[in-house]
Amino acid sequence: MPLSIRINGKRYRISAPSDTPLLYVLTNDIGLKGPRFGCGMAQCGSCSVLADGKEIRSCVMPVGSVARMEITTLEGLARFDARKRGLTKVPDLHPLQQAIIDEQALQCGYCYNGMTVKGAELLASNPNPSEAEIRDAMAGHICRCGTYQRISAAIKRAAATIGGKT
Ligand code: FES
Ligand code: FES
Repeated sequence: MPLSIRINGKRYRISAPSDTPLLYVLTNDIGLKGPRFGCGMAQCGSCSVLADGKEIRSCVMPVGSVARMEITTLEGLARFDARKRGLTKVPDLHPLQQAIIDEQALQCGYCYNGMTVKGAELLASNPNPSEAEIRDAMAGHICRCGTYQRISAAIKRAAATIGGKT
């Protein structure tokens, strides 16, 4: 029986078996480009998405386990933030996506999806995180280019935007 799953505010009917990793459904069935395959072992974070607002590793998450949850991918983060803050208009980018551009935070960009999804999760629960809180939250996300300090700066810049300080 097809699964019904809600992704970025839209409902999809999925014919994949319920034990199929969510990442494969997002990329192969839905055609999303945000979540990426990295390690495939829940170790790097490149496949991260939000399930009911909490980060999960979609490479190891059976799609059947999250079929009743609201899935938000990189493509839906601006909507996620706008709903959270009660904005009437959904901007093109989440404040953290804009901050990553403004800080020129990335090099190759492979970690972009996971860093942004996790950072958005952090900012939704803690709009003004300290350096220590940022480091703690982002600890499970690997950047092979070593951009951690600039990602942290981008999260602080996004926090200032969300707090109306810029
Ligand atoms: S690909 Fe999922 S955590 Fe690395
Ligand atoms: S910018 Fe290259 S992996 Fe993070």
